Amino acid sequence: MYQAFFGNGEWDEDKVERLIVAFNKLEAKNLRENYFSKNFGGKFFDANTARIVGYIRGRLQAMRSSLTDKEYAVLLASLIYSIDRRANTLGHFDAYIKKDITPQPFEMHMIDAKSYNGVEIYQEDANLLARRLNVDLTYLDPPYNSRQYSRFYHVYENLVKWRRPKLHGTALKPKEENMSDYCRNAAFTAFTDLVSHIKSRYLVVSYNNTYHSKSTSSENKIKLEQLEEVLNKCGNTQVFNHEFKAFNSGKTEFDDHREYLFITEVDDEKRNRSFPAVLRR
Ligand SMILES: C[S@@+](CC[C@H](N)C(=O)[O-])C[C@H]1O[C@@H](n2cnc3c(N)ncnc32)[C@H](O)[C@@H]1O
Repeated sequence: MYQAFFGNGEWDEDKVERLIVAFNKLEAKNLRENYFSKNFGGKFFDANTARIVGYIRGRLQAMRSSLTDKEYAVLLASLIYSIDRRANTLGHFDAYIKKDITPQPFEMHMIDAKSYNGVEIYQEDANLLARRLNVDLTYLDPPYNSRQYSRFYHVYENLVKWRRPKLHGTALKPKEENMSDYCRNAAFTAFTDLVSHIKSRYLVVSYNNTYHSKSTSSENKIKLEQLEEVLNKCGNTQVFNHEFKAFNSGKTEFDDHREYLFITEVDDEKRNRSFPAVLRR
């Protein structure tokens, strides 16, 4: 997604548009069953959409060498954005809605992508990356509850990687991967480790107070007070907040749901005093 929206690199917008126009002429009845339709057809997507999506993904793989990295990323991101609005779910892929899906024609739309200069995109554990970067400002938006992103958005991961693994359970998930400490009881330790290592003049952190929720998986792993305390140890911290209408898949009722933004001006001396263990590393 980030490569598609922000990545550097050459790409021919007309070429991508022409491919999408051709994909939009496909008819499921002329296509064979494929990995995507066999696994997800009639479940996460209607059978025809799943067949078309699987076919398009296979085509993109076959055409890979004739596409630049940016074109490939824009096409994959466009495919994901186009199927997201058609998914038979409540927003993520932990379960699908168990009733007949009304088939609708599938239409792929191109995302609004740009090419920038000087953008560097990393895909790795933030706590490891934090030890290498030296930047002006860092925006942190970690998960705060026990819902592992890789278990909830596995269908898109699977579609992008296209390694076609064997899937398990009613939600058709692949083997676990990229399990985050931010979704476990170790979340606060991980966050403390992160902010004590980032070389950044400013830290901007978003947070919302979902921990009053009735569903345990929505409960926050880091409390607001803990966050405020650890950021204060890094430097002068201001907190802003406003009312926020949260995404809600049913079980959770959010009263007084608020979105917070912490802005910390990092004071290296104060931070080094607060986290002496960091200095020893
Ligand atoms: C609330 S979302 C952030 C969304 C982001 N602000 C955006 O607009 O795309 C939290 C993200 O953190 C990622 N994540 C969780 N643990 C991580 C870790 N240890 N290192 C890097 N990313 C992690 C999740 O996969 C998820 O994409």
